[in-house]
Amino acid sequence: MTEIIDGESVAADVRDAVADEVSRLSDAGVGPGLATVLMSDDAASETYVSMKQRDCEEVGIESFHVEIDAGAPASELYETIDDLNGRDDVHGILVQLPLPDHVDKRTVLRRIAPEKDVDGFHPENVGRLVAGDARFKPCTPHGVQKLLDAYDVETEGADAVVVGRSDIVGKPMANLLIQKSPTGNATTTVCHSRTEDLEAKLAGADIVVAAAGIPEFVDGSTLKSGATVIDVGINRVDADTEKGYELVGDVDYESAKDVAGAITPVPGGVGPMTRAMLLYNTVKAAGLQRDVAVDLE
Ligand code: GUN
Repeated sequence: MTEIIDGESVAADVRDAVADEVSRLSDAGVGPGLATVLMSDDAASETYVSMKQRDCEEVGIESFHVEIDAGAPASELYETIDDLNGRDDVHGILVQLPLPDHVDKRTVLRRIAPEKDVDGFHPENVGRLVAGDARFKPCTPHGVQKLLDAYDVETEGADAVVVGRSDIVGKPMANLLIQKSPTGNATTTVCHSRTEDLEAKLAGADIVVAAAGIPEFVDGSTLKSGATVIDVGINRVDADTEKGYELVGDVDYESAKDVAGAITPVPGGVGPMTRAMLLYNTVKAAGLQRDVAVDLE
């Protein structure tokens, strides 16, 4: 029987632990705060940001939101970040990606104070992660790591294949999987658009993390029987539904579900974990900035 990995349930446990720490920190006079910044007209980005604000409310984190016109000059975003960097009540800053074409993402990510960079995208935090001394693990790969741990998926010595090499998921995911740690020690291959013979790589994979951003890209017929399949994709595809679309992952769920030993659904797998780990990082950021110990695994 294929195990369906329940991201909602594991995320609820993370949120409970975070809520306890928020309450403890608040008693110590440190009310954690997260600022979200949206500079986009993209409907999906708007939805993600509003969900993040709702999540904050649920666990007692104060949320602040700044919206910048998508056509505004980049300097407006820089000034917003400078202002948030200087605020004592803001411990985490998240600038929702993607940004408009006229705004340079690298410059923006470098402008966020590294100690408030709850995405873990600032080069200082990327470097720390690679060095095995992470301050903030990026939320999606961290969420995947928690899911694997919660379902006792052995990474030690496993052959893992990460499909996708993005800065947000693929690269940090691979880095976490290769770390010398109980949740790492996997022999990890990163596949991407120029990979030759992806099928051969997938055929040997005990763990597959699909993060290519292409709907139903990984077919069940290419998987090793019993593999753990983690689907990071959240793709909106046209469908005859009330909203006019449905969400599908990067894995063809129907063909994969009987081959895999365990699999994450979309929605309800990785998505809730990404959101929960943002709350986790925000509380961690507040503790670090105010020099209060935070007790989160
Ligand atoms: N857009 C898609 N995923 C993410 C993420 O993890 N962080 C930010 N800031 N933007 C995103």
